[in-house]
Amino acid sequence: MLGALISVLWGLTALILLANPAAAWADDVTLFYDNPLIFYHGRWDVSPGTWWASSGFNLVVDNLSTLTLNLGPHTTTPLVSLGVSVNYDTVYTFNASAGTNTIPLSSLRSGPNVVRINVEGWQNNRMNLESIVLNPGAVVLPYIPSPLAFQFIGDSLSAGQYVPEGVDQAWPLLTTEYFKAEGTVNAQPGAALADIPAWGNVHGVSYQFFRTEDTGYYSTTDHNYTTPWNFAFDHPTPTHVVIHIGANDASQNVSQALFVQTYMDFISRLRTIYIYQPIFVFTPWGWPSADGSISYYYPGAYQTYHTLTARILRGYRHALGDENIFLVNTTGWVSWEDVYPTNQHPNVEGHQKIAGLFEAWLENWGLRALPSWPSLP
Ligand SMILES: *[C@@H]1O[C@H](CO)[C@@H](O)[C@H](O)[C@H]1NC(C)=O
Ligand SMILES: *[C@@H]1O[C@H](CO)[C@@H](O)[C@H](O)[C@H]1NC(C)=O
Ligand SMILES: *[C@@H]1O[C@H](CO)[C@@H](O)[C@H](O)[C@H]1NC(C)=O
Ligand SMILES: *[C@@H]1O[C@H](CO)[C@@H](O)[C@H](O)[C@H]1NC(C)=O
Ligand SMILES: *[C@@H]1O[C@H](CO)[C@@H](O)[C@H](O)[C@H]1NC(C)=O
Repeated sequence: MLGALISVLWGLTALILLANPAAAWADDVTLFYDNPLIFYHGRWDVSPGTWWASSGFNLVVDNLSTLTLNLGPHTTTPLVSLGVSVNYDTVYTFNASAGTNTIPLSSLRSGPNVVRINVEGWQNNRMNLESIVLNPGAVVLPYIPSPLAFQFIGDSLSAGQYVPEGVDQAWPLLTTEYFKAEGTVNAQPGAALADIPAWGNVHGVSYQFFRTEDTGYYSTTDHNYTTPWNFAFDHPTPTHVVIHIGANDASQNVSQALFVQTYMDFISRLRTIYIYQPIFVFTPWGWPSADGSISYYYPGAYQTYHTLTARILRGYRHALGDENIFLVNTTGWVSWEDVYPTNQHPNVEGHQKIAGLFEAWLENWGLRALPSWPSLP
């Protein structure tokens, strides 16, 4: 009797399970790395793995509760610091490692959620993505990028070296967020623009910018080579290009003549990729001192530097009919209280101040922040 009842119950259970398998075995939603709904941005190699601070991916997920990253063996050991932002809220750090990483999600809401994950560091910044696992019932939607997209090119002063959350707290991405834009930062601390060894970098930015890897490839055992970057993979295509570089040329005694020539050649090469985009060239904001003075690059000759930079714009490029290059005069933007005393790099508040000044500059120039993010209307 009991045996018959159990067997009937078993039969019923089996029927229920057959009728509605999802109710009994709700499956996780797994996205393998080649899923087209993963919106990759920045520089990824074929593993696929990140190089350069700010590289990452975005995802839009309805009915989201959990997100796990499975990272492969090319991930930085022992960890890579990821910046996580949900629904464009404040970025927070999650230190991830090869293997399974359950990412804590704050600011979740019902309806579509936008999750953005990038690498914060200019070194130890390799995230080798194998798959993303979401809760059962999660529905992945396409990410709609902003029609505004910044491309920043620079050195430590743009990479966010020394601030706790790296590039995510640095003025380029703060400006990006303000305008509700996409942003990519190719900035290599210590690197000169000229293709010379500088502060541990085997190449200058005028070479490395055109490569997939940052200069860290050279101290990497599992990827000790560099490959050309295919600019067709830029997602989305930049609409505004911003360059702030030269500190390390000056510290390596690159002559002004060579620096200016390198800059002109670099901009000419950029123009073969970014044919119509406005290019914004920052003058140096210099190295502030406790006594209130500011040391500009090329000591005693910074005015000449400005004049030469202006000549790039007015004489050289404009002579070729290129009116779409703008000099951003950052003289006086950064003072002693805006930097860390030990290294004279902007502190957290310093980066916010610079971002505010550049935002005002761009608004005065004519750029307007979008009213909302296209993926989170
Ligand atoms: C991440 O790792 C870095 C380096 O070890 C550490 O300084 C930082 O506190 C960690 N952050 C978090 C949120 O775990
Ligand atoms: C949301 O996901 C849960 C499981 O996490 C699932 O039970 C539910 O049916 C899903 N809702 C929708 C609207 O997809
Ligand atoms: C990378 O290769 C170069 C030679 O091209 C070598 O000098 C360097 O030591 C290598 N780095 C590592 C970490 O193996
Ligand atoms: C640059 O020049 C200064 C002054 O001549 C010298 O002290 C310094 O060692 C030079 N630096 C490099 C990297 O050549
Ligand atoms: C930048 O601004 C400073 C201070 O106003 C000024 O002295 C300098 O000439 C300007 N440089 C250029 C290139 O316009």
